[in-house]
Amino acid sequence: MPASSKRIVEAFARMSPFMNFFLNSTFAREGNRPGACVFVAGDPWEGPPLGFVESLQRAAVPQNPNWFGYRNYVPEAQAAVAAGLRARTGLAYADEDVLLTNGAFAGLAALCLAVLDPGDEVIFNSPPWFFYESMLAGSGAVPVRVRVRADDYDLDLAALEAALTPRTRAVLVNSPNNPTGRIYPPATLQALADLLTRASARLGRVLYLISDEAYKHILFDGRKHYSPALYYPHTLVVYTYGKTLLTPGQRLGYLALPPDMPAADRAELRQTIFGAQFLIGFAFPNALLQYVLPELEQQHVDLTRLERRRDRFIRALRGMGYSVHQPEGAFYLLPRSPIPNDWAFTEQLAARQVFVLPGQAVEMPGFFRISLTGSDDMVDRALPAFAETLAGLNAG
Ligand SMILES: Cc1ncc(COP(=O)(O)O)c(C=O)c1O
Repeated sequence: MPASSKRIVEAFARMSPFMNFFLNSTFAREGNRPGACVFVAGDPWEGPPLGFVESLQRAAVPQNPNWFGYRNYVPEAQAAVAAGLRARTGLAYADEDVLLTNGAFAGLAALCLAVLDPGDEVIFNSPPWFFYESMLAGSGAVPVRVRVRADDYDLDLAALEAALTPRTRAVLVNSPNNPTGRIYPPATLQALADLLTRASARLGRVLYLISDEAYKHILFDGRKHYSPALYYPHTLVVYTYGKTLLTPGQRLGYLALPPDMPAADRAELRQTIFGAQFLIGFAFPNALLQYVLPELEQQHVDLTRLERRRDRFIRALRGMGYSVHQPEGAFYLLPRSPIPNDWAFTEQLAARQVFVLPGQAVEMPGFFRISLTGSDDMVDRALPAFAETLAGLNAG
């Protein structure tokens, strides 16, 4: 096997608990059946937000003969994103520093190629999004896992500092976090920025902070999202519209380079990321999505509905005897599995056509993850199954 194939196979093998679930569980065989209650991933079970379909329908009508030609960054789309970023953060984002991608996947892949050398270490926080470790390893970088604090899921800054080495190139954070729902507070982000500034000076090269902000608009209880870019000038923001709009199959996202990064660094990064997007396979959003991006910037999944669903689930599950914490953002619950083997527990639920993700797939053995993107009707039908499964375990 060629070395490149071996690297990919080995990198992908790091996701084996996740892949195992998607290939070998009852969900893999029965998750698509009519009547299934599916809370596995952030898939839309209640349709896109108001206006989304109309926006795409309008954009599908060509306005010139080259309407469906190649597009890398459509300037109006860049301008709409930058205006939104400026308004929300107060940072002076330049239009040209918004690099449009086909989702956060592509943004991360382009960053791996553009800013990481083989052997560079990148610290990521666990529990993580499934693909970080494999994507980093697949690009030749060395993923370094640091566990978040067990009690409140905040970053463990002491552990993070201890994980820095002369080969560290970047730290990757994700807030609001998938799967914990934690929003890192300003004090944590300031301390992280101070830590990275000190480490950069010590190491004699700038450390990047990669900020995956996929869920920055999925916030509960009136909470705010704080971008790490407010605290650390070498922050590369990664975003996808797939969560905010609940349309993950329509691939749209961006990378944003912050204005406080020195102009020469930004110019160099713009160039290398642009090149990287070509090299990984024209990783730009499709033309239609770029045309409608100014409209999509204004659209939003119904947060009140998501929050209501979160509260209903938590109330019902706690009432049954499950232990479940309350997420601040993103759209997942992470209850404790009533038995240590979370896979066995999720299979018992699956026998009742209720599908959730075993915690081992997100580095949370002993827990399970519920996506709040299942429909209310699915919740109606699933709650009795949660109660019966627990009762069955208690009786056994
Ligand atoms: C934290 C996080 N980052 C990135 C992604 C990838 O998003 P997309 O598929 O829209 O590119 C996801 C999707 O689940 C995610 O949860």
